[in-house]
Amino acid sequence: MRFDAKVCLVTGAGSGIGRATAIGFAQRGGKVVVSDVNGNSAEEVAGEIAAAGGTAKAIVADMAIPADIAAMVARTVQEFGRLDVLHNNAFGVPAALRDKRLARVADTDQAVWDYTIQVGLTAVMQATKAALPIMRQQGGGAIVNTASISGLFADYGITSYNVMKAGVVNLTRGTAIEYARYNIRCNCICPGAIDTPLLQRSFSIPGFADATRAAIPMGRLGRPEEMANVVLFLASDLASYVTGAAFVADGGLTAQTGIPTRFTD
Ligand SMILES: NC(=O)c1ccc[n+]([C@@H]2O[C@H](COP(=O)([O-])OP(=O)(O)OC[C@H]3O[C@@H](n4cnc5c(N)ncnc54)[C@H](O)[C@@H]3O)[C@@H](O)[C@H]2O)c1
Repeated sequence: MRFDAKVCLVTGAGSGIGRATAIGFAQRGGKVVVSDVNGNSAEEVAGEIAAAGGTAKAIVADMAIPADIAAMVARTVQEFGRLDVLHNNAFGVPAALRDKRLARVADTDQAVWDYTIQVGLTAVMQATKAALPIMRQQGGGAIVNTASISGLFADYGITSYNVMKAGVVNLTRGTAIEYARYNIRCNCICPGAIDTPLLQRSFSIPGFADATRAAIPMGRLGRPEEMANVVLFLASDLASYVTGAAFVADGGLTAQTGIPTRFTD
């Protein structure tokens, strides 16, 4: 899983899964663009990579702003001359909308819905749209999107997130079948519950952390590095025949029907 001479652009790379992936690409020889809406954390991760002897450039881009997305891809090519890997990963709900995020369908807040679809899905399409002509001209590339098990099944009270992630899964498949002939592969990862600031915020709800762990056959949360390893594989030449896949990495959470066991031991 080497990325020597390859340019890898990671969105939401200032924290969690994106941070781990950006560091992973750099450790394996890739030149990395660390993109995030949070300039400080992007600079921090880029600095960490450089301090370890890698090559990284921080680019501030807000996935809610289409012009930022186009500029992020253009600046990547300006800086490093090419774009081999795009990891569409950024997502987060701004503090002002967070308390409206949990809602049953009939109570869906329009601003939460619009923001979720733009940042989590439309931005992925816009970044992909900007990257495809570049990859095609270069003779190939790999796109890895961060979807979720929440894009395969529903969670009670966050349907906007479920719909957005389901969109990412099928955007991945559509891109895969249309661009396979140009040597561009597109896959997504479907993480379960991963120990990042995004998940930790939900753990302020009493009992939610324990209930989450109890639902996972492995009995623990995933680590960001464990998701990065899957992204790195899918982006690498080792996955040369893999495209259009939605790769579940969830400690066994979705391998079960949900019907309780009759065993007591
Ligand atoms: N943590 C989990 O359990 C889990 C499970 C399934 C899927 N995911 C997905 O993984 C991805 C990464 O999440 P994470 O858990 O690492 O969270 P995180 O909060 O640790 O990292 C997300 C990063 O995205 C950035 N970001 C947020 N809004 C942005 C915007 N508008 N423009 C650009 N950057 C923005 C944040 O600043 C942050 O650095 C997300 O797509 C998330 O939906 C996470």
